[in-house]
Amino acid sequence: MPEPGTHRDILSFVRRGGRMSEAQERAWKELSPFYLFEVPRAAGVTSVDPSARFTPHEAYGREAPLIVEIGSGQGHAIVNASSSRPDIDFLAIEVYDSGLARTMLDADREGVKNLRLIEANAPEVLQTLLPEGSADEIWIFFPDPWHKKRHNKRRLISPGFGAIAGRALKPGGLLRLATDWEDYALQMREVLDAEPEVERAFDGEWAERFDGRIMTAFERKGIDKGRDIRDLTYRRV
Ligand SMILES: C[S@@+](CC[C@H](N)C(=O)[O-])C[C@H]1O[C@@H](n2cnc3c(N)ncnc32)[C@H](O)[C@@H]1O
Repeated sequence: MPEPGTHRDILSFVRRGGRMSEAQERAWKELSPFYLFEVPRAAGVTSVDPSARFTPHEAYGREAPLIVEIGSGQGHAIVNASSSRPDIDFLAIEVYDSGLARTMLDADREGVKNLRLIEANAPEVLQTLLPEGSADEIWIFFPDPWHKKRHNKRRLISPGFGAIAGRALKPGGLLRLATDWEDYALQMREVLDAEPEVERAFDGEWAERFDGRIMTAFERKGIDKGRDIRDLTYRRV
């Protein structure tokens, strides 16, 4: 079975074609030299050259705990977290360039210095770009549900993901997940319960709502549609 994300025919996203607004174009030009890590590419625009490395202490100019968010969207959660926790370094991984531009604009407005952004396919970042055992936490909130049966294979959290996330996490590091799609929540739990690299870090059916997770439009939409929001937390063994 191909590992999620590495088989570039089966990606967990379809890149949206929409152009960036003028403000976003300007943000990209002015703010990307500080916020955006230039990823050496392999085959495609969101790919990662497997020999490239992101070295946290060089990127942030210090040694501090590292929290990585995958699929940060507009950046609401990570800008909020990085502005309220200056003692921690944050890394957002996203393929949606308008979202990344928005994240930079908001981060700049808040004077955030402890955040960096990577525009790339997240599994490749976890597998090779990040040093092994470098992340204290990995957050994945409301990943695309790919709810049609024929699209399920695009889901980010699929067999093999425990090893991919586990490689990037420190021993004891946490993988935090949230979704409003019940059958994706069940898939996450089934996949991660079976993977030897991670273990459950919650009692009962589901984890408590993570209080570092702010409400985003995706969660709001799920709630408005009457869906239950499921949180899951796994620990690197
Ligand atoms: C449904 S949105 C949720 C955004 C955000 N977490 C929130 O709660 O508002 C999922 C995001 O994941 C991003 N994404 C999906 N697959 C990805 C991948 N393989 N690498 C990086 N980002 C990805 C998409 O571009 C999209 O912005």
